[in-house]
Amino acid sequence: MSLDGSIALVTGAASGIGRGIATTFAARGAKVCLADVNHVAADEVAQQLRDAGHDTFATPMDVSDEASVAAGVAELDERWGRLDALVNCAGIDRPARLDDLDASSYDRVLDVDLKGAYLTVRCALPSMRRSDGAAIVNIASVMAWYTAPGYTAYTAAKAGLIGMTRAMAVELGPEGIRANAVCPGFIDTPIWQRNLDAMDPGDAAAFAERIRALHPVGRRGSPDDVARATAFLCSDEAAFVTGTHLVVDGGVSVRLVAP
Ligand code: NAI
Repeated sequence: MSLDGSIALVTGAASGIGRGIATTFAARGAKVCLADVNHVAADEVAQQLRDAGHDTFATPMDVSDEASVAAGVAELDERWGRLDALVNCAGIDRPARLDDLDASSYDRVLDVDLKGAYLTVRCALPSMRRSDGAAIVNIASVMAWYTAPGYTAYTAAKAGLIGMTRAMAVELGPEGIRANAVCPGFIDTPIWQRNLDAMDPGDAAAFAERIRALHPVGRRGSPDDVARATAFLCSDEAAFVTGTHLVVDGGVSVRLVAP
């Protein structure tokens, strides 16, 4: 599943899953543009990848802001002239129960997690049309289906992202552009760690262990697990795969009875 010679744009690439995707794509031969609102951190990752001999750069991008997205895509175009793989990974969760979920928090989650994917695709369409066969991967979540208290906005955004992915696949398929979603389960990243940090340390350790034990494969996921699935969907091996989603969760969402 080589991505040799392909050109990729990964949003949310400064941290966690996005960082893992950028690293895996670079290792498989892609040129990678790392786009993140946290430009300092993204630039550090890009520098590490360049030090390892890869062709990468970081661009500052707030995916919820059309002008910012357009500027990042323009920088990519100036350097490389086309886009073969667009991975929408930037995301926030901001868990809050309905009583505390004010409209601005709700809007922010939807703006980043859902509207962000629409904006990047729309801005990058001309660049993807210059590819021989571009692929979009939207990083959704198993929470599009299975959710928890406090996740009204996040679940709405991720479920919307599944629908948006299908609509994009139908509309862009005739132009040779594929669109799929990846649905991670519990992945050890700063988002997961922040949720643990918000708990009492004893409770956090017990919760982390309870979640681990729920996984049929006996562990939570890593950014690499999600990166490999994403690389497959962007590769020629997935040339006939579009409009669908790939669940990457170690089987946690299909277990009927807790161990
Ligand atoms: P993370 O917090 O480690 O990384 C998220 C990255 O997105 C950060 O670098 C952040 O600066 C960037 N970002 C946030 N808002 C942005 C904006 N407006 N514009 C551009 N960049 C922005 O989180 P993690 O865990 O790596 O999550 C990545 C994606 O995977 C998210 O979409 C998340 O919803 C999804 N996901 C994560 C799961 C997990 O267990 N960690 C499970 C399922 C889905």
